[in-house]
Amino acid sequence: MLTAPTHARAAGSGVGIDVRNVSKTYVTRSAGSMLALAPVDLSLRPGEFVSIVGPSGCGKSTLLLIVAGLLSATQGEIRIDGERLTKPLTDVGIVFQDDLLLDFRTTLDNVLLQSDIRRAPDRPEAEATARGLLRQLGLEGAERKYPHQLSGGMRQRASLARALVHDPSILLMDEPFGALDALTRTQMRRDLEQLWLERQKTVLFITHGVEEAVGLSDRVIVMSPSPGRIVEDITVELPRPRPVELGDDRAYTEYTDRIYRIFHDHGVLR
Ligand SMILES: Nc1ncnc2c1ncn2[C@@H]1O[C@H](COP(=O)(O)OP(=O)(O)OP(=O)(O)O)[C@@H](O)[C@H]1O
Ligand SMILES: [Mg+2]
Repeated sequence: MLTAPTHARAAGSGVGIDVRNVSKTYVTRSAGSMLALAPVDLSLRPGEFVSIVGPSGCGKSTLLLIVAGLLSATQGEIRIDGERLTKPLTDVGIVFQDDLLLDFRTTLDNVLLQSDIRRAPDRPEAEATARGLLRQLGLEGAERKYPHQLSGGMRQRASLARALVHDPSILLMDEPFGALDALTRTQMRRDLEQLWLERQKTVLFITHGVEEAVGLSDRVIVMSPSPGRIVEDITVELPRPRPVELGDDRAYTEYTDRIYRIFHDHGVLR
């Protein structure tokens, strides 16, 4: 039975996500069956920013794809705003490590890709939104440039604008800053926090970066090595907006130290 949404909300603001007892076993001809994700229970409140950190291969991307409705779970279910997910989510923006921009479209046209594919009647409105987002993300002047004329950071900003242009309630990010240099990555963290504070999307953010996870999140979910399961769910009570450089902040380093200790205890770090 479907559960009715439990709260009224403004369009585009976050919705709750429930991951209930979700596991994934991949079956391949060459390697047989492989448990990639042990049963996971996880709830995100509307507008919450939650990160997942865990070692390579523990099933983070698998979980994200299941939440997006792009991959079926072997067991368990996803509920979005109380309703069981049975097909790919549409009220979502997804950002991957690779920006996946199309080389033959300008920055602006990349952001408007979905709108053009759907031949949306509101193109002028979408274009105004896209231009506003690009401006907010520091890409004013890059609208008519092609991806090869942009830096890695600029490309990833364009891909973030593309994910947000239809004002989705949910933002799923899989190591979005993984390919960027440290400085650009820090700036992106700050800009993402700013966007999130203004727009209140529900964000599921996957990263290998312990500092990045603590710096951005309301909660950090720590996963064990493969087959991944949740070993800690840590609420981060640092005030926002958080400074670019949290470096020596005592409360901040207590969180990061705690996560590194968990990795150490699970043999991820020696
Ligand atoms: N389509 C697939 N078929 C078979 N096995 C897969 C498939 N996708 C992923 N796997 C395996 O499932 C496990 C989890 O993969 P997943 O990509 O979810 O890990 P991850 O935590 O995102 O890793 P990383 O941090 O390296 O991105 C890995 O052992 C991987 O090899
Ligand atoms: Mg991954």
